[in-house]
Amino acid sequence: MIGNFVYNTPTELIFGKGVIKNLPKVLSRFGKNVLLTYGGGSIKKVGLYDDVLGLLKNFNVFELSGIEPNPKYDPSVIEGARLCKEHNIDVILAVGGGSVLDCSKAISVCAKYDGEGWDLISGKVKAKAAVPIVDILTLAATGSEYDNGCVISYTAINDKRSYGDKLMYPAVSLLDPEYTYSVSAWQTACGTADAINHVLEQFFAEPHSAFNDEIMIAALRSLMRNVKVALKNPADYDARSELMYVCSWGCNGILSNGAGHSGWPMHSIEHALSAYFDITHGAGLAIITPPWMREILSEKTMERFVTLGVSLFGFDKNLPKREIANKVIDEFYNFFKSIGIPMHLAELGVKEEKIEEMAEHILKYDDTSEEWMYVPLDKSALIRILKASM
Ligand code: NZQ
Ligand code: ZN
Repeated sequence: MIGNFVYNTPTELIFGKGVIKNLPKVLSRFGKNVLLTYGGGSIKKVGLYDDVLGLLKNFNVFELSGIEPNPKYDPSVIEGARLCKEHNIDVILAVGGGSVLDCSKAISVCAKYDGEGWDLISGKVKAKAAVPIVDILTLAATGSEYDNGCVISYTAINDKRSYGDKLMYPAVSLLDPEYTYSVSAWQTACGTADAINHVLEQFFAEPHSAFNDEIMIAALRSLMRNVKVALKNPADYDARSELMYVCSWGCNGILSNGAGHSGWPMHSIEHALSAYFDITHGAGLAIITPPWMREILSEKTMERFVTLGVSLFGFDKNLPKREIANKVIDEFYNFFKSIGIPMHLAELGVKEEKIEEMAEHILKYDDTSEEWMYVPLDKSALIRILKASM
Protein backbone atom coordinates (compact mmCIF):
# COMPACT_ATOMS: atom_id res chain seq x y z
CA MET A 1 0.00 0.00 0.00
CA ILE A 2 1.10 3.55 -0.73
CA GLY A 3 0.04 5.81 2.14
CA ASN A 4 -0.85 9.50 1.99
CA PHE A 5 1.94 11.85 1.00
CA VAL A 6 2.84 15.25 -0.42
CA TYR A 7 5.76 15.35 -2.83
CA ASN A 8 7.13 18.53 -4.35
CA THR A 9 10.73 18.95 -5.41
CA PRO A 10 10.76 22.20 -7.37
CA THR A 11 14.42 21.90 -8.41
CA GLU A 12 15.07 21.81 -12.16
CA LEU A 13 17.65 19.17 -13.04
CA ILE A 14 19.68 19.72 -16.19
CA PHE A 15 21.65 16.54 -16.71
CA GLY A 16 24.32 15.30 -19.10
CA LYS A 17 27.49 16.04 -21.01
CA GLY A 18 28.13 19.72 -21.65
CA VAL A 19 25.13 21.07 -19.74
CA ILE A 20 27.25 23.81 -18.19
CA LYS A 21 26.74 25.80 -21.43
CA ASN A 22 23.26 26.62 -20.09
CA LEU A 23 24.73 28.57 -17.20
CA PRO A 24 24.39 32.16 -18.50
CA LYS A 25 20.76 31.62 -19.51
CA VAL A 26 19.93 29.97 -16.20
CA LEU A 27 21.60 32.65 -14.07
CA SER A 28 20.09 35.52 -16.01
CA ARG A 29 16.66 34.47 -14.67
CA PHE A 30 17.74 35.77 -11.29
CA GLY A 31 19.90 38.85 -11.88
CA LYS A 32 23.45 40.06 -12.47
CA ASN A 33 25.11 39.79 -9.07
CA VAL A 34 26.44 36.28 -8.52
CA LEU A 35 28.17 34.83 -5.47
CA LEU A 36 30.34 31.96 -6.73
CA THR A 37 30.98 29.51 -3.89
CA TYR A 38 33.45 26.63 -3.98
CA GLY A 39 35.70 24.45 -1.86
CA GLY A 40 39.41 23.89 -1.46
CA GLY A 41 40.45 24.10 -5.09
CA SER A 42 39.39 20.92 -6.90
CA ILE A 43 37.35 23.00 -9.34
CA LYS A 44 40.50 24.92 -10.30
CA LYS A 45 42.52 21.73 -10.84
CA VAL A 46 39.96 20.30 -13.27
CA GLY A 47 39.48 23.54 -15.20
CA LEU A 48 35.86 24.01 -14.12
CA TYR A 49 36.61 27.31 -12.40
CA ASP A 50 37.97 28.78 -15.66
CA ASP A 51 35.05 27.36 -17.64
CA VAL A 52 32.58 28.97 -15.24
CA LEU A 53 34.27 32.38 -15.24
CA GLY A 54 34.43 32.22 -19.03
CA LEU A 55 30.66 31.83 -19.13
CA LEU A 56 30.03 34.60 -16.60
CA LYS A 57 31.61 37.53 -18.48
CA ASN A 58 28.36 39.50 -18.40
CA PHE A 59 27.77 39.04 -14.66
CA ASN A 60 29.22 40.70 -11.57
CA VAL A 61 30.93 37.78 -9.87
CA PHE A 62 31.95 37.75 -6.19
CA GLU A 63 33.62 34.72 -4.65
CA LEU A 64 33.60 32.67 -1.48
CA SER A 65 36.30 29.99 -1.62
CA GLY A 66 37.70 27.46 0.84
CA ILE A 67 34.41 25.91 1.95
CA GLU A 68 35.42 22.95 4.09
CA PRO A 69 34.25 19.32 3.87
CA ASN A 70 31.72 19.14 6.74
CA PRO A 71 31.11 22.86 6.10
CA LYS A 72 31.47 25.21 9.02
CA TYR A 73 29.07 27.88 10.20
CA ASP A 74 32.07 29.89 11.35
CA PRO A 75 33.70 31.11 9.15
CA SER A 76 32.10 29.95 5.86
CA VAL A 77 28.37 30.54 6.37
CA ILE A 78 28.93 33.80 8.24
CA GLU A 79 31.29 35.13 5.57
CA GLY A 80 29.02 34.06 2.70
CA ALA A 81 26.00 35.76 4.25
CA ARG A 82 28.07 38.91 4.77
CA LEU A 83 29.14 38.92 1.10
CA CYS A 84 25.52 38.48 -0.05
CA LYS A 85 24.38 41.43 2.01
CA GLU A 86 27.31 43.66 1.07
CA HIS A 87 27.04 43.04 -2.68
CA ASN A 88 23.29 42.69 -2.98
CA ILE A 89 23.65 39.17 -4.41
CA ASP A 90 20.83 37.99 -6.74
CA VAL A 91 21.86 34.34 -6.99
CA ILE A 92 24.37 31.98 -5.39
CA LEU A 93 26.25 29.71 -7.80
CA ALA A 94 27.53 26.73 -5.79
CA VAL A 95 30.18 24.68 -7.60
CA GLY A 96 31.35 21.54 -5.81
CA GLY A 97 30.23 18.61 -3.70
CA GLY A 98 27.63 18.36 -0.96
CA SER A 99 29.61 20.52 1.42
CA VAL A 100 29.70 23.48 -0.97
CA LEU A 101 26.02 23.05 -1.77
CA ASP A 102 25.03 22.72 1.89
CA CYS A 103 27.06 25.73 2.91
CA SER A 104 25.49 27.74 0.09
CA LYS A 105 21.99 26.74 1.20
CA ALA A 106 22.72 27.94 4.72
CA ILE A 107 24.18 31.15 3.32
CA SER A 108 21.05 31.66 1.20
CA VAL A 109 18.77 31.95 4.24
CA CYS A 110 21.27 33.62 6.59
CA ALA A 111 21.76 36.34 3.94
CA LYS A 112 18.09 37.31 4.33
CA TYR A 113 18.12 37.30 8.11
CA ASP A 114 19.30 40.14 10.31
CA GLY A 115 20.01 38.18 13.48
CA GLU A 116 22.54 35.45 14.27
CA GLY A 117 22.36 32.88 11.44
CA TRP A 118 22.73 29.93 13.84
CA ASP A 119 19.22 30.80 15.12
CA LEU A 120 17.92 29.55 11.75
CA ILE A 121 20.17 26.52 11.42
CA SER A 122 19.46 25.35 14.96
CA GLY A 123 15.73 25.69 14.37
CA LYS A 124 15.15 28.48 16.88
CA VAL A 125 13.81 30.87 14.23
CA LYS A 126 11.99 30.07 10.96
CA ALA A 127 13.54 31.56 7.80
CA LYS A 128 11.31 33.91 5.80
CA ALA A 129 13.31 34.34 2.60
CA ALA A 130 16.36 33.04 0.75
CA VAL A 131 18.68 34.02 -2.09
CA PRO A 132 18.08 31.60 -5.03
CA ILE A 133 20.68 28.88 -5.57
CA VAL A 134 22.00 27.38 -8.79
CA ASP A 135 24.59 24.63 -8.52
CA ILE A 136 27.06 22.67 -10.59
CA LEU A 137 27.62 19.37 -8.81
CA THR A 138 31.09 17.79 -8.88
CA LEU A 139 30.65 14.80 -6.55
CA ALA A 140 27.89 12.18 -6.56
CA ALA A 141 26.92 11.51 -2.96
CA THR A 142 24.60 13.53 -0.77
CA GLY A 143 21.63 14.36 -2.99
CA SER A 144 21.89 17.95 -1.78
CA GLU A 145 21.43 19.04 -5.41
CA TYR A 146 17.85 17.74 -5.29
CA ASP A 147 16.73 18.31 -1.71
CA ASN A 148 16.02 21.13 0.70
CA GLY A 149 18.44 20.14 3.44
CA CYS A 150 21.87 21.15 4.56
CA VAL A 151 24.19 19.89 7.26
CA ILE A 152 26.31 22.51 9.00
CA SER A 153 28.97 22.12 11.70
CA TYR A 154 29.63 24.64 14.44
CA THR A 155 33.02 23.60 15.72
CA ALA A 156 33.03 25.87 18.76
CA ILE A 157 30.12 23.93 20.24
CA ASN A 158 30.90 20.46 18.74
CA ASP A 159 27.62 20.57 16.88
CA LYS A 160 26.60 19.38 13.44
CA ARG A 161 23.00 20.05 12.50
CA SER A 162 20.72 18.87 9.72
CA TYR A 163 18.56 21.77 8.74
CA GLY A 164 15.78 21.76 6.16
CA ASP A 165 13.50 24.37 4.67
CA LYS A 166 11.53 24.53 1.42
CA LEU A 167 13.29 27.82 0.72
CA MET A 168 16.56 25.97 0.23
CA TYR A 169 15.72 23.76 -2.73
CA PRO A 170 18.22 24.69 -5.44
CA ALA A 171 16.40 26.48 -8.27
CA VAL A 172 18.49 24.66 -10.88
CA SER A 173 21.09 21.89 -10.58
CA LEU A 174 23.44 21.36 -13.51
CA LEU A 175 24.68 17.77 -13.43
CA ASP A 176 27.47 16.77 -15.78
CA PRO A 177 28.88 13.37 -14.78
CA GLU A 178 32.15 14.19 -16.56
CA TYR A 179 33.00 16.60 -13.74
CA THR A 180 33.09 13.65 -11.38
CA TYR A 181 35.88 11.83 -13.25
CA SER A 182 38.47 13.53 -11.03
CA VAL A 183 36.85 12.50 -7.74
CA SER A 184 39.37 10.42 -5.76
CA ALA A 185 38.81 6.71 -5.08
CA TRP A 186 38.24 7.56 -1.40
CA GLN A 187 35.56 10.18 -2.09
CA THR A 188 33.96 7.99 -4.78
CA ALA A 189 33.66 5.16 -2.27
CA CYS A 190 32.49 7.39 0.58
CA GLY A 191 30.00 9.24 -1.62
CA THR A 192 28.48 5.98 -2.78
CA ALA A 193 28.40 4.63 0.78
CA ASP A 194 26.48 7.78 1.77
CA ALA A 195 23.93 7.23 -1.00
CA ILE A 196 23.58 3.54 -0.10
CA ASN A 197 22.91 4.57 3.45
CA HIS A 198 20.25 7.09 2.34
CA VAL A 199 18.39 4.20 0.72
CA LEU A 200 18.77 1.95 3.76
CA GLU A 201 17.56 4.68 6.11
CA GLN A 202 14.34 4.72 4.09
CA PHE A 203 14.12 0.98 3.48
CA PHE A 204 14.01 0.18 7.20
CA ALA A 205 10.61 1.72 7.94
CA GLU A 206 7.03 0.68 8.52
CA PRO A 207 4.69 0.66 6.64
CA HIS A 208 6.31 0.12 3.26
CA SER A 209 5.18 -0.83 -0.24
CA ALA A 210 6.37 -3.37 -2.76
CA PHE A 211 6.81 -0.62 -5.34
CA ASN A 212 9.02 1.49 -3.11
CA ASP A 213 11.01 -1.62 -2.23
CA GLU A 214 11.65 -2.29 -5.92
CA ILE A 215 12.88 1.26 -6.53
CA MET A 216 15.15 1.16 -3.52
CA ILE A 217 16.60 -2.22 -4.43
CA ALA A 218 17.22 -0.99 -7.97
CA ALA A 219 19.01 2.04 -6.50
CA LEU A 220 21.17 -0.15 -4.23
CA ARG A 221 21.99 -2.49 -7.10
CA SER A 222 23.01 0.39 -9.36
CA LEU A 223 25.14 2.05 -6.68
CA MET A 224 26.90 -1.16 -5.67
CA ARG A 225 27.62 -2.17 -9.25
CA ASN A 226 28.65 1.19 -10.65
CA VAL A 227 30.96 2.25 -7.83
CA LYS A 228 33.14 -0.75 -8.62
CA VAL A 229 33.29 0.24 -12.28
CA ALA A 230 34.10 3.88 -11.42
CA LEU A 231 36.84 2.82 -9.01
CA LYS A 232 38.46 0.74 -11.73
CA ASN A 233 37.95 3.30 -14.48
CA PRO A 234 37.26 6.79 -13.07
CA ALA A 235 36.35 8.12 -16.54
CA ASP A 236 33.64 5.56 -17.29
CA TYR A 237 30.69 7.76 -18.29
CA ASP A 238 28.08 5.02 -17.93
CA ALA A 239 29.06 4.33 -14.33
CA ARG A 240 29.57 7.97 -13.33
CA SER A 241 26.23 9.00 -14.87
CA GLU A 242 24.31 6.27 -13.01
CA LEU A 243 26.03 7.15 -9.74
CA MET A 244 25.21 10.82 -10.19
CA TYR A 245 21.58 10.26 -11.06
CA VAL A 246 20.86 7.65 -8.39
CA CYS A 247 22.59 9.69 -5.67
CA SER A 248 20.35 12.64 -6.54
CA TRP A 249 17.32 10.68 -5.41
CA GLY A 250 18.75 10.09 -1.95
CA CYS A 251 17.21 12.64 0.35
CA ASN A 252 14.21 14.31 -1.26
CA GLY A 253 11.70 11.67 -0.21
CA ILE A 254 10.93 10.22 -3.62
CA LEU A 255 12.21 6.78 -2.57
CA SER A 256 9.79 6.56 0.33
CA ASN A 257 6.67 8.42 -0.76
CA GLY A 258 3.71 6.96 1.09
CA ALA A 259 5.89 4.86 3.39
CA GLY A 260 6.62 5.15 7.10
CA HIS A 261 9.36 7.36 8.43
CA SER A 262 12.40 5.60 9.88
CA GLY A 263 13.84 8.67 11.59
CA TRP A 264 17.26 8.33 9.89
CA PRO A 265 19.06 6.99 12.98
CA MET A 266 22.38 6.24 11.31
CA HIS A 267 22.62 9.84 10.15
CA SER A 268 22.01 11.06 13.69
CA ILE A 269 24.87 8.90 14.92
CA GLU A 270 27.20 9.85 12.08
CA HIS A 271 26.59 13.56 12.44
CA ALA A 272 27.80 13.32 16.03
CA LEU A 273 30.91 11.45 14.85
CA SER A 274 31.65 14.13 12.26
CA ALA A 275 30.97 16.90 14.76
CA TYR A 276 33.44 15.45 17.26
CA PHE A 277 36.09 14.03 14.92
CA ASP A 278 35.52 15.69 11.51
CA ILE A 279 35.45 12.30 9.75
CA THR A 280 34.18 11.79 6.18
CA HIS A 281 30.40 11.39 6.34
CA GLY A 282 30.07 8.36 4.03
CA ALA A 283 32.89 6.48 5.76
CA GLY A 284 31.29 6.97 9.17
CA LEU A 285 27.98 5.71 7.80
CA ALA A 286 29.52 2.65 6.17
CA ILE A 287 31.25 1.66 9.41
CA ILE A 288 28.20 2.00 11.63
CA THR A 289 25.79 0.31 9.19
CA PRO A 290 26.54 -3.36 10.13
CA PRO A 291 26.53 -2.72 13.93
CA TRP A 292 23.31 -0.71 13.59
CA MET A 293 21.75 -3.58 11.62
CA ARG A 294 22.79 -6.09 14.29
CA GLU A 295 21.31 -3.84 16.96
CA ILE A 296 17.90 -3.55 15.27
CA LEU A 297 17.64 -7.17 14.08
CA SER A 298 14.51 -8.62 15.69
CA GLU A 299 11.22 -10.27 14.76
CA LYS A 300 9.88 -6.80 13.95
CA THR A 301 12.61 -6.01 11.41
CA MET A 302 13.22 -9.54 10.10
CA GLU A 303 11.10 -9.24 6.93
CA ARG A 304 13.02 -6.17 5.85
CA PHE A 305 16.28 -8.08 6.02
CA VAL A 306 14.75 -11.04 4.19
CA THR A 307 13.50 -8.81 1.36
CA LEU A 308 16.99 -7.35 0.97
CA GLY A 309 18.60 -10.77 1.15
CA VAL A 310 16.37 -12.38 -1.44
CA SER A 311 15.84 -9.48 -3.86
CA LEU A 312 19.20 -7.70 -3.68
CA PHE A 313 21.64 -10.49 -2.90
CA GLY A 314 19.75 -13.42 -4.41
CA PHE A 315 19.76 -15.59 -1.29
CA ASP A 316 17.55 -18.68 -1.16
CA LYS A 317 14.25 -17.62 0.38
CA ASN A 318 13.93 -21.00 2.07
CA LEU A 319 16.92 -20.42 4.32
CA PRO A 320 16.11 -19.66 7.97
CA LYS A 321 15.19 -15.98 8.22
CA ARG A 322 17.80 -15.16 10.82
CA GLU A 323 20.47 -16.74 8.67
CA ILE A 324 19.42 -14.55 5.72
CA ALA A 325 19.49 -11.46 7.93
CA ASN A 326 22.98 -12.21 9.21
CA LYS A 327 24.20 -12.87 5.68
CA VAL A 328 22.77 -9.49 4.58
CA ILE A 329 24.72 -7.74 7.31
CA ASP A 330 27.90 -9.58 6.32
CA GLU A 331 27.33 -8.66 2.66
CA PHE A 332 27.19 -4.95 3.47
CA TYR A 333 30.28 -5.20 5.68
CA ASN A 334 32.24 -6.99 2.97
CA PHE A 335 31.00 -4.66 0.25
CA PHE A 336 32.08 -1.50 2.08
CA LYS A 337 35.44 -3.10 2.84
CA SER A 338 35.85 -4.09 -0.80
CA ILE A 339 35.52 -0.48 -1.95
CA GLY A 340 38.28 0.65 0.40
CA ILE A 341 36.53 1.86 3.54
CA PRO A 342 38.34 0.92 6.76
CA MET A 343 35.60 -0.71 8.80
CA HIS A 344 36.71 0.56 12.21
CA LEU A 345 36.08 4.05 13.58
CA ALA A 346 39.41 3.95 15.44
CA GLU A 347 41.15 3.95 12.04
CA LEU A 348 39.52 7.34 11.34
CA GLY A 349 40.74 8.77 14.64
CA VAL A 350 37.57 8.32 16.70
CA LYS A 351 38.37 7.94 20.42
CA GLU A 352 36.51 5.38 22.49
CA GLU A 353 36.47 7.64 25.58
CA LYS A 354 34.13 10.06 23.79
CA ILE A 355 31.45 7.46 23.08
CA GLU A 356 29.27 8.18 26.09
CA GLU A 357 29.42 11.93 25.50
CA MET A 358 28.49 11.44 21.84
CA ALA A 359 25.54 9.22 22.80
CA GLU A 360 24.28 11.96 25.12
CA HIS A 361 24.81 14.54 22.39
CA ILE A 362 22.74 12.47 19.93
CA LEU A 363 19.90 12.09 22.42
CA LYS A 364 19.92 15.80 23.16
CA TYR A 365 19.73 16.98 19.56
CA ASP A 366 18.06 14.13 17.65
CA ASP A 367 14.99 11.93 17.76
CA THR A 368 16.68 8.53 17.96
CA SER A 369 14.98 7.51 21.20
CA GLU A 370 11.48 8.73 20.29
CA GLU A 371 8.66 6.21 20.30
CA TRP A 372 7.70 6.96 16.69
CA MET A 373 11.10 5.88 15.36
CA TYR A 374 11.02 2.58 13.45
CA VAL A 375 13.37 1.19 16.09
CA PRO A 376 14.01 3.67 18.92
CA LEU A 377 17.59 3.72 20.19
CA ASP A 378 18.24 4.67 23.81
CA LYS A 379 21.58 5.61 25.28
CA SER A 380 22.72 2.05 25.88
CA ALA A 381 21.80 1.05 22.31
CA LEU A 382 23.75 4.00 20.89
CA ILE A 383 26.74 3.08 23.02
CA ARG A 384 26.57 -0.55 21.86
CA ILE A 385 26.50 0.52 18.19
CA LEU A 386 29.39 2.93 18.61
CA LYS A 387 31.51 0.45 20.58
CA ALA A 388 30.89 -2.30 18.04
CA SER A 389 32.00 0.14 15.31
CA MET A 390 35.35 0.90 16.92
O1 NZQ B 1 36.89 21.21 -1.49
P1 NZQ B 1 37.29 20.72 -2.83
O2 NZQ B 1 38.65 21.13 -3.24
O3 NZQ B 1 36.26 20.97 -3.88
O4 NZQ B 1 37.44 19.10 -2.70
C1 NZQ B 1 36.37 18.26 -2.34
C2 NZQ B 1 36.47 17.74 -0.91
O5 NZQ B 1 37.80 17.73 -0.46
C3 NZQ B 1 36.49 16.99 -3.14
N1 NZQ B 1 35.85 17.06 -4.46
C4 NZQ B 1 34.59 17.44 -4.77
N2 NZQ B 1 34.39 17.33 -6.09
C5 NZQ B 1 35.55 16.90 -6.64
C6 NZQ B 1 36.48 16.73 -5.61
N3 NZQ B 1 37.76 16.33 -5.83
C7 NZQ B 1 38.10 16.08 -7.11
N4 NZQ B 1 37.24 16.20 -8.15
C8 NZQ B 1 35.97 16.60 -7.96
N5 NZQ B 1 35.14 16.69 -9.01
O6 NZQ B 1 35.85 16.00 -2.36
C9 NZQ B 1 36.01 16.32 -0.99
C10 NZQ B 1 34.70 16.08 -0.28
O7 NZQ B 1 33.71 16.98 -0.73
P2 NZQ B 1 32.33 17.15 0.07
O8 NZQ B 1 31.55 18.18 -0.64
O9 NZQ B 1 32.64 17.35 1.51
O10 NZQ B 1 31.68 15.69 -0.06
P3 NZQ B 1 30.18 15.26 -0.09
O11 NZQ B 1 29.55 15.61 -1.38
O12 NZQ B 1 30.20 13.84 0.29
O13 NZQ B 1 29.46 16.14 1.05
C11 NZQ B 1 29.55 15.77 2.40
C12 NZQ B 1 28.72 16.73 3.27
O14 NZQ B 1 27.33 16.67 2.94
C13 NZQ B 1 26.55 16.43 4.13
C14 NZQ B 1 27.52 15.63 4.97
O15 NZQ B 1 27.15 15.59 6.33
C15 NZQ B 1 28.83 16.35 4.74
O16 NZQ B 1 28.92 17.51 5.54
N6 NZQ B 1 25.26 15.79 3.79
C16 NZQ B 1 24.33 16.53 3.17
C17 NZQ B 1 23.08 16.05 2.87
C18 NZQ B 1 22.03 16.86 2.21
N7 NZQ B 1 22.20 18.13 2.02
O17 NZQ B 1 20.98 16.36 1.86
C19 NZQ B 1 22.68 14.69 3.19
C20 NZQ B 1 23.83 13.81 3.53
O18 NZQ B 1 23.33 12.76 4.32
C21 NZQ B 1 24.96 14.46 4.25
O19 NZQ B 1 24.74 14.50 5.65
ZN1 ZN C 1 24.18 11.08 4.18
